[in-house]
Amino acid sequence: MNDLMDKVELRRGAVLPNRIAMAPMLTLSGLPGGYVSDDTLDYYAARSKAAGLLITEFCYVSENGGPCSMPGFPEQLGIWSDAHIEGLSKIASALKKDGAKAVVQIHHGGRLAVGRYLKGQDVAAPSAVSRHYPVRALTEDEMGQIIKDFGQAVRRAAEAGFDGVEIHGANHYLLQQFFSRNTNLRTDKWGGSLVKRMAFPLAVVREVLRAADEYAPKGFIVGYRMCPEEIHEVGVGYTWREGLELAKEVSRLGVDYVHLSLWYGYSSGPCDDPGSYGKLFSEGIDPKCKLIVVGGVFSEAQARDAVQHHGDIIAIARGTLVEPRFAFKVASGRGSEIAGRVTRAAFPSLHWTPGLREAFTAPGSAGLPPVPGAELILDLHEGIFDKG
Ligand SMILES: Cc1cc2nc3c(=O)[nH]c(=O)nc-3n(C[C@H](O)[C@H](O)[C@H](O)COP(=O)(O)O)c2cc1C
Repeated sequence: MNDLMDKVELRRGAVLPNRIAMAPMLTLSGLPGGYVSDDTLDYYAARSKAAGLLITEFCYVSENGGPCSMPGFPEQLGIWSDAHIEGLSKIASALKKDGAKAVVQIHHGGRLAVGRYLKGQDVAAPSAVSRHYPVRALTEDEMGQIIKDFGQAVRRAAEAGFDGVEIHGANHYLLQQFFSRNTNLRTDKWGGSLVKRMAFPLAVVREVLRAADEYAPKGFIVGYRMCPEEIHEVGVGYTWREGLELAKEVSRLGVDYVHLSLWYGYSSGPCDDPGSYGKLFSEGIDPKCKLIVVGGVFSEAQARDAVQHHGDIIAIARGTLVEPRFAFKVASGRGSEIAGRVTRAAFPSLHWTPGLREAFTAPGSAGLPPVPGAELILDLHEGIFDKG
């Protein structure tokens, strides 16, 4: 039976101190151009004891891949030029200071790069499926460049001192746009059948693994995050069975872990099978590859249940916003002291960025999933980013 405090040996050689990960979360704190701010560093420095594997927010790998920030808020971080390395290295040092492994999430926004639209720049994706702004189809040359950009992001991550990268293939960003039949209408070798829709995400995985071997030390972690399925009222982008086929291929290529992005809880599952996504994917992927699940964990008991029944590692997002020392408290036998919600008294010790404070105290959490207890801190809302 898995224990939360087990060490976890990954296939490429890294050893994680426990089975808890901090899930990637946009901190709404970047400077124009995607640079790290003092607010970014303050937030991450307070979370070095949140988990054994600390995953940063998504950072865009190509100049044309972002920002995907929420309009009006400080920008998403970038990893698309060498000028970003200095700031990223400060995040890596802040996260690693207590012995956890630090991984940077790398992505391309494709049609969700709303920040480009707001700056009057063009937004490109697998196909010209427009949003409230025009989106054009990427050329083959541009796609080849984006694949190379993922490799360069690996080099920058290694130079910045990170222990690895997580490829963001989830949440409707570019890689998922290629895999989904809702957003990939291409008729060339990159679209159409299941195999062709997988081609771009798999090309990115191959390049990232190649770059890790070329630029990074042995044991450099490579993970892949994906949604198990994409089902909307407007149509099925892909079913969980198709998602599992992609996860199998990704895991066979040699990544350390597949990370399922789950919005309805770590134990959620598809409507047409009694198993949880975690169980179905754990049983289906290459056994050498670990599986991370996420969703709705705010206590030690929930985290234990997740690694006993649904995956190898439990990732915690909002739970680390309200309890920045989650793993430390479990490790030191103080799990009962884990905070499950934000309170007015604890707020200063949580080191939220101004962007997070403004978002979670705005009506409807500004579109983000709500943080428990946010109703207790509504008076902290200053309205400084409300113009978006
Ligand atoms: C403020 C916020 C920012 C997020 N940013 C990212 C991100 O950068 N990358 C990503 O893959 N998921 C992102 N997510 C999704 C989380 O990683 C996670 O999957 C989701 O919040 C469910 O986990 P939880 O119930 O523990 O919060 C974000 C979620 C929140 C609340």
